Amino acid sequence: MSASRVCGLSELVQDEARRVEVDGVAMAVVLDGNGEIHAIGDVCTHGDISLSDGFVEGDTLECWAHGSAFSLKTGHPLNLPAFEPVPVYEVVIDGDDVLIDPAVTKASA
Ligand code: FES
Repeated sequence: MSASRVCGLSELVQDEARRVEVDGVAMAVVLDGNGEIHAIGDVCTHGDISLSDGFVEGDTLECWAHGSAFSLKTGHPLNLPAFEPVPVYEVVIDGDDVLIDPAVTKASA
């Protein structure tokens, strides 16, 4: 499997999550305040809630349902009720294209 274009770089809004899907895998893509682009699994590990509907705060994405904030760098929740991490995907930028291969995840820290 190879990386697929998920959106254009210029389509990302700083500090907002965008839901994308690659090969049936839902992800939340975030351009943070430092200009870094992250992609984490879109489904909260506490419930069947789309994290991309949540709130970006620094380098975390907070689930709107019960408030668990997931690190955009490691995928780990920083507070309960969620306690299982979501996957973190490698993002490749090629010109204005944001590319992600759902088979390539970063090792959890
Ligand atoms: S569903 Fe996300 S914290 Fe409960």
